[in-house]
Amino acid sequence: MKQCRMDNALPVDTTIPDPSLVVLIGAAGSGKSTWASTWPTTQVLELDRFRALVSDDAGCQEATGDAVFALQAVLEARLARRKTTVVDATNCERSVRADLIATARRHGVPTVALVVSTPVAVCADRQEGRPVNRRVPEPVVRAQHAAMVDAFPALPAEGFDHVVVAENLYRLEALLQRVSDALRRDRGWDGGEGLGDLLLVRRCFGPEILPMWRWRDGSQLAGGDRVAELRLGADRLVLALRTDIDGDVGFEVLMACPVFADCKSAAWTPAYNTTDLLRALTGDLATDPDTYCTDHGPDDPEGRADLEQQYADAVRA
Ligand SMILES: Nc1ncnc2c1ncn2[C@@H]1O[C@H](COP(=O)(O)OP(=O)(O)OP(=O)(O)O)[C@@H](O)[C@H]1O
Ligand SMILES: [Mg+2]
Ligand SMILES: [Zn+2]
Repeated sequence: MKQCRMDNALPVDTTIPDPSLVVLIGAAGSGKSTWASTWPTTQVLELDRFRALVSDDAGCQEATGDAVFALQAVLEARLARRKTTVVDATNCERSVRADLIATARRHGVPTVALVVSTPVAVCADRQEGRPVNRRVPEPVVRAQHAAMVDAFPALPAEGFDHVVVAENLYRLEALLQRVSDALRRDRGWDGGEGLGDLLLVRRCFGPEILPMWRWRDGSQLAGGDRVAELRLGADRLVLALRTDIDGDVGFEVLMACPVFADCKSAAWTPAYNTTDLLRALTGDLATDPDTYCTDHGPDDPEGRADLEQQYADAVRA
């Protein structure tokens, strides 16, 4: 099966040097722009954006030639400065990739093929929810996907220094860092009114998080709280929406037990913002005094008495 060949053909390479030219390769709807969002916006050259810049319409196919011309001019200027640049287009055609590699070579910048190999049925399904001018017909999506699968084994021979499969990457930390920095810089940001759970996600963690956010089906905890997964490539965070914190609502992130290293019970820490998610991902939140294990409570080496008191109170209640 084609999918297997993609998984087994090469040893796993996740190297993305800095600087480098990162060439995203994937069908429409595969998630290229979502991956691109893990880089700072100035480093991403998105073909749809250039179509919009030259024609006011991101989906205007007639504008593709001018958009490619403008994108290449910016790419040239960036690589001359040895700036890491991500080209967010389908890049499923060999001639398109050959031009990109040649440009990077002229400037001595290494090249990375970042392959987004989302199953074709998922790419096609994702077209449904899009505005009409951004919807790509299913036969085109299928042709792009097939071209990506066919190209995969030959990418090193085409001249790419690294061939990276997106599903093997850990880039959630980079994304969270960027969003967290931006929200802190922009002190006026309050995210507006909370109207429903997804708006709360947006308000707490920023709009970039939404494509990676999935509520777990039928996942209500005992108290009726919803559980969600924040997932990108090989990274995962699990969060619970607490609806009754002294009449307020907020998120908690799943952590390791702070009391016993080999404990398998769920432990939780409040996550108020993107910085907290970043700290959960990097392990910095592990020592947060608010972390509590559902079986062992908080780690409180100097206050065992408190813990015992809590336990005694709970038993009496
Ligand atoms: N890691 C992910 N987990 C779940 N859903 C995702 C993920 N990445 C992307 N999606 C969903 O897929 C949709 C398409 O993603 P995206 O816009 O990044 O694709 P694309 O490859 O850039 O498409 P196009 O080539 O048409 O620009 C997004 O709206 C998002 O909801
Ligand atoms: Mg896109
Ligand atoms: Zn525990």
